[in-house]
Amino acid sequence: MNRFGTRFSVTTFGESHGQAIGCVVDGVPAGLEIDESYIQNELDKRKPGTTKFATQRKESDKVQILSGVFNGVSTGAPIALAIFNENQKSNDYENIKSLFRPAHADFTYFKKYGIRDYRGGGRSSARETAARVAAGAIAKKLLEKFGIKVKSGIFAIGGVEALDVDFEYAPISEIFALDKTKEEAQKEAVLRAKEAGDSVGGCVFVKISNAPFGLGEPLYDKLDAALGGALMGINGVKAVEIGEGVNASKLRGSQNNDQMDEKGFLSNHAGGILGGISTGMDIDLKIHFKPTPSIFIEQQTQNEQNESVKFSLKGRHDPCIAIRGSVVANAMASLVIADMLLLNAACTLENLKKIYSKQ
Ligand SMILES: Cc1cc2nc3c(=O)[nH]c(=O)nc-3n(C[C@H](O)[C@H](O)[C@H](O)COP(=O)(O)O)c2cc1C
Repeated sequence: MNRFGTRFSVTTFGESHGQAIGCVVDGVPAGLEIDESYIQNELDKRKPGTTKFATQRKESDKVQILSGVFNGVSTGAPIALAIFNENQKSNDYENIKSLFRPAHADFTYFKKYGIRDYRGGGRSSARETAARVAAGAIAKKLLEKFGIKVKSGIFAIGGVEALDVDFEYAPISEIFALDKTKEEAQKEAVLRAKEAGDSVGGCVFVKISNAPFGLGEPLYDKLDAALGGALMGINGVKAVEIGEGVNASKLRGSQNNDQMDEKGFLSNHAGGILGGISTGMDIDLKIHFKPTPSIFIEQQTQNEQNESVKFSLKGRHDPCIAIRGSVVANAMASLVIADMLLLNAACTLENLKKIYSKQ
C-alpha cells in the first residue's frame, strides 16, 4: 500500500536511485494558497548533504508542482509533486547487491517480493520520505488556516535527553535540538558514533498546538491510533509515545488523571487525546528512532544463496536518522491532523447544516 489518509490522502512513488520521487495529494480543498517556495522550504529542512550530522548525499531536492494548482491556489484536483534524483551513486551498492544488510528491509523485501532494488534500498530507502515532507507542507498550509501549529525537534540523542523544550530554538539548531544546553552533548554523541563508523538512535518530540477538540474517528480510527500508525510508518521508528506515554504504566491513576475545573484541564498527561478524540489541549508525541542501520564496522549476514558472509558497507549515510527524521515526523503528524479535520467536518448534523446553510 503506497497510499495514506482517507479524505486528505497521499500516494507516494519513486525509489532511492530511480529517476524521481514524488507524490499525489488528493482531497485538498480548493482555494488553498500553495506555492513551490513554501513546499521547498519544508523540503530544505530534510535535505541531505547540508551538515556533518547528515548523509553527504548531495541532492537539491527541488520540487515541481505538476498539477492541481492554478494561479497559486489549489483547484480541488489532485496535486502532483515531483522531485528528481540527481546524486545517485549506484556503484556504492555493487558489493552488497546479493546480501541482506542487517537492520535494513533487504531480507523482508526479498522474501516478500522475490526481487529487490539493491541500489540505496530502492523503495525502502528513506529518500521516499522527501515526498511525505512535500505532501506534509500542503497539510501544514491547511492547518495554518485554522491556527493549528505542528512543531518538532530533537528531544534525545544517544540517551542525552532535553531537560527543557524550546520549539523556537529547534529550527535554528543544526540538529534541531530542543534544549540548547544539551545540544553540544547530543552533537558529541553523533560525532563520536560517526568517527567510530557507527550510528546512534534518537527521540523526536512533536507538539501539535491549537488543535480543536473533536478530531479523531472512534472507534477504529482513533486519533492516537492514526498518529501512532503514521509515525510508526516512518523508516526507523520503533516506538511512539502519546502524552505520559510509557511512563503512564508506572503511575497511579491519581498521578496520571488530568483533573478539570471550570476552565478546563489542569494537566495534560493524556497528551491531548481521550477516547481517541482530541481534547483541545496540546497533542504531545515522542517518536523513537533506532540507530541508522548502515554502519561502517564489519558485520556478518546472510546472502540470497543462504550463505553466511562478512562485509563492510560503503556509501553515504545519516549517522543519526532522528535528526532528519524529525522533519518527516512533523510532516506525517500534519497529514494526520489535516485528514482528521476534513473527516470531522461532517460528523454532526449541526456541522452539515453549517456547510450547506448558504444554499
Ligand atoms: C530521514 C531518514 C533518513 C534515513 N537515512 C538512512 C541512512 O542514511 N542509512 C540507513 O541505513 N538508513 C537510513 N534510514 C533508515 C532506514 O530507511 C530504515 O531503517 C530501513 O529502511 C529499515 O526500516 P525499519 O528500520 O523501519 O525496519 C533513514 C530514515 C529516515 C527517516
